[in-house]
Amino acid sequence: MKISVLGSTGSIGTSALDVISNLKNYTVVGLSANNNKTLLNKQINKFKPKYVAVGSSELKDISLIKEADLVLIAVVGFAGLIPLINAIKLKKRIALANKEALVIAGDLINKLIRKYPAEIIPVDSEHSAIFQCINGNNPEEISKIILTASGGPFRNYPYKKLSKVCVNDVLKHPTWKMGKKITVDSATMINKGFEVIEAHYLFGVPYDKIEVVIHPQSIVHSGVEFTDGSIIAQLGRTDMRLPIQYALTYPERVQSTVKKLNLTEVGKLEFFKLSAKNFPCFELAMSAAKISGSMLTVLNAANEVAVMKFLDNKISFIKIPKLIEKAMKKHKVIKNPDLEDIIEVDSETRKYVEEIAR
Ligand SMILES: NC(=O)c1ccc[n+]([C@@H]2O[C@H](COP(=O)([O-])OP(=O)(O)OC[C@H]3O[C@@H](n4cnc5c(N)ncnc54)[C@H](OP(=O)(O)O)[C@@H]3O)[C@@H](O)[C@H]2O)c1
Repeated sequence: MKISVLGSTGSIGTSALDVISNLKNYTVVGLSANNNKTLLNKQINKFKPKYVAVGSSELKDISLIKEADLVLIAVVGFAGLIPLINAIKLKKRIALANKEALVIAGDLINKLIRKYPAEIIPVDSEHSAIFQCINGNNPEEISKIILTASGGPFRNYPYKKLSKVCVNDVLKHPTWKMGKKITVDSATMINKGFEVIEAHYLFGVPYDKIEVVIHPQSIVHSGVEFTDGSIIAQLGRTDMRLPIQYALTYPERVQSTVKKLNLTEVGKLEFFKLSAKNFPCFELAMSAAKISGSMLTVLNAANEVAVMKFLDNKISFIKIPKLIEKAMKKHKVIKNPDLEDIIEVDSETRKYVEEIAR
């Protein structure tokens, strides 16, 4: 199996290369990164890929994925959109970690998937879980998707305290170790909103049949309730190498180096209703999902700029939803945006949020 790993220097990318090192008959033919050239060079020496891309323009070059049987898209943010579209047009099997592309352009991507027989296997742990639960069942018999959420580091914080949280507080996620942007997204819970949208587009389930449930232990990665009331859920360690490996070897399951889960050591599993009052970003994501069209592109672009500003200590944590809300209020929705519209809306939103954040 020939594989291209886009975003190979990131959290998912490095875990994927670790998984690939332990798989038989997998060859890396493409690698890509943005800034981390030291790590990229180490990866080149170890995996000897035929194609390497650095930065977002080179990432759009199809030679990076042309020879691959499988393309892992583990780039963060908007930069993942064009490579995803290219991989679909080349009819590839795609292991998709980048959730932003489905948020930005879910309708367009689904149109393309119907036109070209490409295949998307989810890498996000919740969506990998749902994919595994649906496998072998009739998708028409799904009555509800149960999307679990750890609740992030501020699940029990009073809203007042949130105005004082700093970058270091946010980067301490209770259960997962991830890249910086998704860690901030998890703390604001926009990440869970993105995942609801991702589930809607990946599995064709309407929004009112997707329920978010707080599960602080992050052991049940998600579940599906069927018409007869049975719930099938997937459990596992909080280690991204498991869903990554499943996406790479699907439909086969092979031995993993991750330690097996011992349920008696876990002891208890808890589930709570989501109280969204501390998480305006989650609400904004749900409202953009209902409006849909180009509003979803605005949601993502405004969030990307706001999160970068927060990470650079330019704005406070609670300013993130305020900037997103302003950008959404200003936007005139395009119902069925094409790629050109999406690129334009993304760039205009970025400019606007940059201006109002000053
Ligand atoms: N981390 C997780 O556990 C997890 C779980 C589920 C889903 N995801 C999703 O997977 C994606 C990757 O997340 P991550 O946590 O692995 O992120 P990350 O650690 O920040 O890694 C991002 C990767 O993308 C590259 N990159 C960043 N901006 C780029 C640009 N403009 N053009 C080209 N390449 C660029 C980075 O290169 P440099 O390192 O060289 O800067 C790096 O290789 C995200 O969409 C995230 O939502 C992540």
